[in-house]
Amino acid sequence: MPMSDSPSSSIRGSELASDFTVSLDIDKRMYREDIAGSIAHAEMLGKQGIVSSEDVEAIIEGLRRIREEIEAGEFEWKPELEDIHINVEARLYELIGDTAGRLHTARSRNDQVATDARLYVKRVAGECRALCRELQRALLDRAEENVTTIVPGYTHLQRAQPVSFGHVLMAYYEMFGRDAEAFGSARATADMLPLGSGALAGATYPLDQEFVAERLGFSTVSANSMDAVSDRDFVLDFIFAAAKTMTHLSRLCEDIVVWSSEEFGFVRLSDAYSSGSSMMPQKRNPDYAELIRGKSGRVFGSLMSVMTTLKGLPLTYNRDLQEDKPPLMDAYDTVAASLAAAVGMVREISVNRDRMEAASQGDEILATDYADYLVRERGMPFREAYVRVAAIVHGESASDSDYPTITALDSINARDIPGGTAPWRVREAIMRAYGELGSARLSGEW
Ligand code: ARG
Repeated sequence: MPMSDSPSSSIRGSELASDFTVSLDIDKRMYREDIAGSIAHAEMLGKQGIVSSEDVEAIIEGLRRIREEIEAGEFEWKPELEDIHINVEARLYELIGDTAGRLHTARSRNDQVATDARLYVKRVAGECRALCRELQRALLDRAEENVTTIVPGYTHLQRAQPVSFGHVLMAYYEMFGRDAEAFGSARATADMLPLGSGALAGATYPLDQEFVAERLGFSTVSANSMDAVSDRDFVLDFIFAAAKTMTHLSRLCEDIVVWSSEEFGFVRLSDAYSSGSSMMPQKRNPDYAELIRGKSGRVFGSLMSVMTTLKGLPLTYNRDLQEDKPPLMDAYDTVAASLAAAVGMVREISVNRDRMEAASQGDEILATDYADYLVRERGMPFREAYVRVAAIVHGESASDSDYPTITALDSINARDIPGGTAPWRVREAIMRAYGELGSARLSGEW
């Protein structure tokens, strides 16, 4: 029977989708969300007496079966049916006949796709937050082993002052903590049910949106139907969190590339996270670090792409909105894979304590400490002390003998201030961080 003769033809209009309008390859990744949304909607239609309970039962049974078919890889995807929503609904027709047509009562694909996308963002934002926490945990463990490992700290990539390597790793711990929070707030922006908004103006049936929200785990219901079908701020928030995370990952990777170079030799990457060169047998290339650094550009591009798509849209739904999903999903794939790779890389990296400490020797890196000594012990104004020490460092005057011997360890011990690099302060920060991660786990914010 040709599709145009079947009652299900109305679910897609008279034309089959062209290659240009198809989104199935991308949005079929939301099949779980689409089916969950439909089941909750059908239950509510039954509860409100809008659809009979027998029909609701048949619909739900059909939807569950479709989910099983998809999960078993047995579902026959039809790109000519355009997207995930129509593919599922058309299959429901095949399974239960015309009763399938009752599912779309009081619903439009506009509020349906917004619901699916919100559920999807909630799920992936939660996953990315957990991955940030894993990375924080990996950094924390390595920081704890390296509280008293002394390494040069850099500004302008010039040796500046000695620091604890644990302190360096904890700087990254802080960054990924902010990223975890950003994913948490993207999740919160997505946490609102748009279903009931219909195509744009709201539905004409006595719906129970609170019920649907509860079934789907949304904590609120949209306040304005026109905003609800056209709002994709939650997509922006998610991609922004992903982009910010990629910025931090890229910085970490840049440090790792530098540290693992022959010249620095501070760390050695495990075999799993590096590769040899096909030509030069001595090489050990930091491929994972470089790829993470390189992939950050894709995620920034995704953010720009969605912002540009949204900026010119008149209210309400416009088909342009379908273009939110490729960048959304690519940003998720990229940031999740990059975070997972960074976790493994950090866990397996080996630290060359001797090289770090050797690089932290000598008086030059302690120049600030000598100036501080003159301020503290000789009451000299700092600017004057600076000039004196600079003259010695630049070889313009000889070091007079009554300077004490200051070591790199003295230098870090002296930075005994909250947030400073004194080993016990670093240890304190690490303990606080273990507590933080512990409560994140307990409150489910992991
Ligand atoms: N595939 C569409 C999207 O992702 C679904 C919504 C279609 N709605 C419409 N009115 N054509 O946005």
